[in-house]
Amino acid sequence: MIETIAWKNGRVRIIDQTRLPHNLAYIECPDVKTLWGAIKKLQVRGAPAIGVAASLGVVLGIKNSRAKDPDSFMKELDKIIRYLASARPTAVNLFWALERMRACALRNSARSVPKIKGLLLKEAFKVIDEDKRQCRRMAAFGARLIKDGDRILTHCNAGALATADYGTALGVLYRAKAEGKRIRVYADETRPLLQGARLTAWELMRDGIDVTLICDNMAASLMEQGKIDKVIVGADRIAANGDTANKIGTYNLAVLAAYHKIPFYVVAPVSTLDLTLKNGRKIPIEERGPGEVREIAGRLIAPRNVKVYNPAFDVTPNKLITVIVTEKGIFHKPFRGTFPKLNPGVSPL
Ligand code: MRU
Repeated sequence: MIETIAWKNGRVRIIDQTRLPHNLAYIECPDVKTLWGAIKKLQVRGAPAIGVAASLGVVLGIKNSRAKDPDSFMKELDKIIRYLASARPTAVNLFWALERMRACALRNSARSVPKIKGLLLKEAFKVIDEDKRQCRRMAAFGARLIKDGDRILTHCNAGALATADYGTALGVLYRAKAEGKRIRVYADETRPLLQGARLTAWELMRDGIDVTLICDNMAASLMEQGKIDKVIVGADRIAANGDTANKIGTYNLAVLAAYHKIPFYVVAPVSTLDLTLKNGRKIPIEERGPGEVREIAGRLIAPRNVKVYNPAFDVTPNKLITVIVTEKGIFHKPFRGTFPKLNPGVSPL
């Protein structure tokens, strides 16, 4: 699998996803500011990848700290964590990873500053390794839902480019293919930033998966013609009752899938659950600049000053979701109360 994000010689190396599919180019982030910008501009994107990037971002941020004592070090760390947390608001993996880095420093606050720095790097490596393992487990669970011959619709990019390994929703497809199931995938282009057209189509083709690109407004017609067996998507934040925030347009698909009686699967690691939120109403939805809608690939396609509404995510209500697949198992409705206990409704691997 392609390495979306890595620690190389004291820098964070990421694939610049804004240049795909035409250029596979890497950016080296030597400092936390560059990394913050990369998250903001979606050069690195997708909930788990943002979490991984943030944990390495903390290491970049404290690398040159001159703090002599743990107290002043912790203050600096807090500033860096707040700064990174301001990059994007919706994917909870960002905050999860940052809090995990803080907890690591707090656990070790009696140690010397150089020691804490070393432990933070180790913790970031752990976040990466765990993400890789989680991708594999989600894929193993999710592939059980896929049948030979399935035609599957996906939205945005929930693949290798969105994680440290081979993805959440797309990981399920890679695994299904590895198990010998013949699958066909339809990828929504995913306006405004075209993650489906630019990233998912590229990624799946690279892996030899049969993928067909469609415009977002073609899904209903395909479903009506009986050409879609399943919809499978990732998630940026899942509330305690299963309401799920994901790339704008996911909710449309869920409504369409329910109308056409097509199963709708969400695949995400447990780090995407936000059990502090009872339901999806309070999930913060990122609004991005008007240029992304007025333009396509930098080319103006609308009146220069037309008003624009550009929410980057929407929330799919739990009732439209068939199952949620995590690395801990497959969760069935009602989701509320099943996540933390990880027992009822969960099928162990
Ligand atoms: O704005 P993006 O490209 O970061 O949005 C990404 C998505 O919505 C993905 O579907 C989600 O993060 C799941 S990625 C495994």
